[in-house]
Amino acid sequence: MEIHATIPALRAALKARQRIVFVPTMGNLHAGHIALMRQARAHGDTVVASIFVNRLQFGPNEDFDKYPRTFAEDCRQLEAAGVDVLFAPTEADLYPEPQQYQVDPPEIQNQLEGEFRPGHFRGVATVVLKLFNIVQPEVALFGKKDYQQLMLLRNMTRQLALPIKIVGGETVRADDGLALSSRNGYLTAEERLEAPHLS
Ligand code: PAF
Repeated sequence: MEIHATIPALRAALKARQRIVFVPTMGNLHAGHIALMRQARAHGDTVVASIFVNRLQFGPNEDFDKYPRTFAEDCRQLEAAGVDVLFAPTEADLYPEPQQYQVDPPEIQNQLEGEFRPGHFRGVATVVLKLFNIVQPEVALFGKKDYQQLMLLRNMTRQLALPIKIVGGETVRADDGLALSSRNGYLTAEERLEAPHLS
């Protein structure tokens, strides 16, 4: 697996690649992410993943600083899943200057999860559009676990006429029904017992 941190290096590496399929992530990968990587293989010739914890989609009192970062283990899993290229920029690589031009999604961004996380979907849409411009995939995959995110990104892609097909991946669950999530690690033993009631 090739690993690139800068936009020019990634663009150069992808120049000769055909039918790119893209799976963006924030790292701390679990079986749900890996299922997306394997699913991606069926949609093209080159599977590109990204790992970037995107500050723009975190509120001021959210968990940006403590979000789990497990880069070495993530690379090991991506390699085993057959990913061809990993884009892993630093903040300075992706946002060399303040990102003043942003994508402002319609009212859906203030509903459901958005009601509790003002600005979250604006940050998601902005980084995903930027990553799409850098990677230029034909297909991109997002988990159905974050269904509102999947719908919002699909609508953005259609309305901005991006030549990218958006594919949803099934939710992967623990044996007791809890959807796998990087943030499950925050749960206390008591909360972990209670959480499967959500499913
Ligand atoms: O679902 C995620 O992990 C993130 O919201 C995404 C799509 C990688 C954008 O930062």
